[in-house]
Amino acid sequence: MGMLDGKVAIVTGAGHGIGRGHALELAKHGAKIVINDLGGSVKGEGVGRDADLTVEIIKARGGEAVANYGDVSDYEASGQMIAQAIDAFGRLDILVNNAGIVRDGSIFNMTPEDFDAVIKVHLRGTWAPCKHAAVHWRNVNKETGEKVNGRIINTVSGAGLTGNFGQTNYAPAKAAIASLTQTLSLELYKMGVTVNAVGPAAATRITGTMPNAPAVIEADEVPEDEWNRMDPSVSSPLVAWLASDEADHVTGQIIRAVAENIILMKGWADGPTINNNSKRWDATKLGQQLATDVFFTRAPGLRY
Ligand SMILES: NC(=O)c1ccc[n+]([C@@H]2O[C@H](COP(=O)([O-])OP(=O)(O)OC[C@H]3O[C@@H](n4cnc5c(N)ncnc54)[C@H](O)[C@@H]3O)[C@@H](O)[C@H]2O)c1
Repeated sequence: MGMLDGKVAIVTGAGHGIGRGHALELAKHGAKIVINDLGGSVKGEGVGRDADLTVEIIKARGGEAVANYGDVSDYEASGQMIAQAIDAFGRLDILVNNAGIVRDGSIFNMTPEDFDAVIKVHLRGTWAPCKHAAVHWRNVNKETGEKVNGRIINTVSGAGLTGNFGQTNYAPAKAAIASLTQTLSLELYKMGVTVNAVGPAAATRITGTMPNAPAVIEADEVPEDEWNRMDPSVSSPLVAWLASDEADHVTGQIIRAVAENIILMKGWADGPTINNNSKRWDATKLGQQLATDVFFTRAPGLRY
């Protein structure tokens, strides 16, 4: 008995890399999968049938999968993807939003088109499938009067959580996905849907664009019993667990799975605070107050 037997999942961007790793892991535990992939380049140019290879691997291993070639950031196409899961397998339980592209460059070199393209694929390409899945689950919830036990697992990145030189498009897109995850978790938990995000790290086409990157690994190339810290499926067991019934109490969490470590991320939290005692702040005195009571640095005017 697999921990995901009877479940139906969609994994976006599952033609390669981390998405393929997630799809193989979910299938291993018994889920039937829609393998989405637009099949373009790592910069998001062109289209292809890359989803087919992951479908073939799953079928060869005895699982069930169908391909979807849609662009996740296209609102209509992402709606068709949700509908396809229901048509092909009769239900939807798990949505893993993983598709992504990169167009790195310092802000001096980044074009508005590179900014828009990356924000669109990551943020809109996560929001749109979430929206269609949420509407579907709300309809099921209304029809049955029961909680739907749905799962959304989004994909963030260390770059988005702490910033990264040369990624003023990608990092804010990933930070926004963390915020989307937390906000959606508030909206959907009442009807039994959890929403979490995983931050992976692996040697994929995306990291392959960086200087001195390790050679690209595909998830099916690493034998199951072999540990490789850059294997694209390093974070996939965490995704499978978050997708399972066991994790029905975990929502709104941002969790990184990097090499040997699984790390619960703690985000913005209140720090040192000053209070104005209901009197307007005085800008000429604020620097001194902030220096001594908030930043714990030297007062303004002193040389560092
Ligand atoms: N590789 C890492 O170290 C790392 C670290 C943190 C986060 N991530 C994130 O993991 C996810 C997977 O990336 P990867 O490293 O496996 O790269 P990858 O290029 O191997 O996989 C991304 C897949 O998404 C697909 N895709 C791109 N745009 C799409 C669209 N509009 N619609 C549907 N599919 C689309 C691509 O065709 C590709 O197969 C991304 O969201 C990425 O930002 C990766």
